[in-house]
Amino acid sequence: MAKCLVTGGAGFIGSHIAERLLRDGHEVRILDDLSSGRRQNLDGFQGELELVEGDIRDPDTVRRATHGMDTVFHQAATASVPRSVEDPAATNETNLTGTLNVLLACRDQNVRRVVFASSSSIYGDSEEMPKLESMAMNPLSPYALQKAAGETYMRLFHKLYGLETVSLRYFNIFGPRQDPNSEYSAVIPKFISALVRGAPITLHGDGEQSRDFTYVENVVDANLAAMRAPASSCGRMFNIACGEAYSLNHLVNELERISGRRALRQHGPARLGDVRHSLADIGAARESLGYLPKITFEEGLVRTYRHFAT
Ligand code: NAD
Ligand code: UD1
Repeated sequence: MAKCLVTGGAGFIGSHIAERLLRDGHEVRILDDLSSGRRQNLDGFQGELELVEGDIRDPDTVRRATHGMDTVFHQAATASVPRSVEDPAATNETNLTGTLNVLLACRDQNVRRVVFASSSSIYGDSEEMPKLESMAMNPLSPYALQKAAGETYMRLFHKLYGLETVSLRYFNIFGPRQDPNSEYSAVIPKFISALVRGAPITLHGDGEQSRDFTYVENVVDANLAAMRAPASSCGRMFNIACGEAYSLNHLVNELERISGRRALRQHGPARLGDVRHSLADIGAARESLGYLPKITFEEGLVRTYRHFAT
């Protein structure tokens, strides 16, 4: 059994990774400053893990948290494109300097492997679909640039220092515990929360834009697969998604079907800088990590709706 650190483990995705690791019998430590994460995300299993409340921007804190660990799942970040546009400097500190702090601490303390949460946003708005890892990165926001640079650091630390690193490019992830209440919230928790409250939902533009929406359990599977993958997968980047895209209009139709409620649809202006379509090729993750998305979009929506509606 491995000793695992999950940075950002009190957040949406990190808490699901921590929960699965515990269930599989691993030892889990979380490093989180609780800026967007919450203790309630750990309800039911907090007693079984060690929670270090601290900031990845502080190298000493990161060194203490990584000490004695075998694998680090680096999820901590300011995970919002608009936030990064408003404040590139502050998000750079967390998303890039914080990532470098994690890598340096792992290199110096002989951590075996680092699995990094990257993002589909690194592809930008090129129209080629599906996205393949071999395509050029084209970051269109500070957030995307910070993830692109983070991945590049991951690759470099593997090449220069032999640290085992794997970067996972998450496409729009959804599921229980995702925050529905912030102005930066992702579309699925936002729409479900509005539907449950009987409040209107706003589609930016015509609603025909599409995303490769991916249920969080699939991402957890990908992280565990990345932990176990052969060393030949290290220094590489992998798309993590379902490999199927759905439009927002289809999403709302599905939510209406699942909930038995009528959505109050409003259309607003298209969001500035919005990508029109996003779809992943997941062949590389399948071949090198043995990753297969087990939970479909529809099943994930049912589970997520149930979580927010009860
Ligand atoms: P989240 O906001 O729920 O989780 C991020 C966690 O990091 C939070 O618990 C937060 O408190 C913590 N954190 C932030 N700054 C910190 C700091 N300076 N020091 C310590 N902890 C800090 O977001 P999420 O959706 O769970 O995202 C997890 C990771 O996945 C992020 O790296 C994000 O960029 C990436 N990602 C998410 C998606 C998605 O669709 N949700 C898509 C692509 C990539
Ligand atoms: C983007 C990135 C993703 C990143 C995430 C972090 C791409 C392809 N994806 O996701 O990698 O992790 O930001 O913030 O670059 N929408 C509405 N009404 C709403 C809210 C959203 O219509 O109330 C629309 C948006 O305009 C967009 C779609 O829903 O077209 C999805 O939006 P969102 O959930 O914010 O994620 P992305 O911007 O796709």
